[in-house]
Amino acid sequence: MAEVLYVAEGGKQERYALLYAQIQAVLRGEEDAVARMANVAAMIHATFGFLWTGFYRVVGEELVLGPFQGPLACMRIGYGRGVCGTAWKEAKSLVVPDVEQFPGHIACSSLSRSEIVVPWRRDGAVVGVLDVDSEALETFDEVDQEWLEKIVAIL
Ligand code: SME
Repeated sequence: MAEVLYVAEGGKQERYALLYAQIQAVLRGEEDAVARMANVAAMIHATFGFLWTGFYRVVGEELVLGPFQGPLACMRIGYGRGVCGTAWKEAKSLVVPDVEQFPGHIACSSLSRSEIVVPWRRDGAVVGVLDVDSEALETFDEVDQEWLEKIVAIL
């Protein structure tokens, strides 16, 4: 297993391409879901230096906090609540350029200004979400969405 994370020079595409390859290598041979989520969160976080990178898992009628990197976060989010609960309900990725413009956004950190949430599906059902928060406005676009969806697909 790779023990060192390499961050590509250049733009987002290059960084994601190398990150994706490293995630594939790190996940190979490990079946435990928590271990996999933990290292995926750590690798995304270290590559881009986002404010918060982590997972919420569907547990009954709520999302419950999973492995993450960054500041203390809300532990439970209801179905359809906030960006995470909405991405779960709608079963689609949400890119939020300005969290203040998203009705019902849950501010786990007052530093968060923009966000992307990608649902994690297994056998067609949403079993969790990947949530990434940034201290800057308009951090995320379709490039982030495309790569984060690819990453979540190999979880
Ligand atoms: N902002 C999210 C809540 C999770 S934290 O940001 C880590 C939301 O509105 O769902």
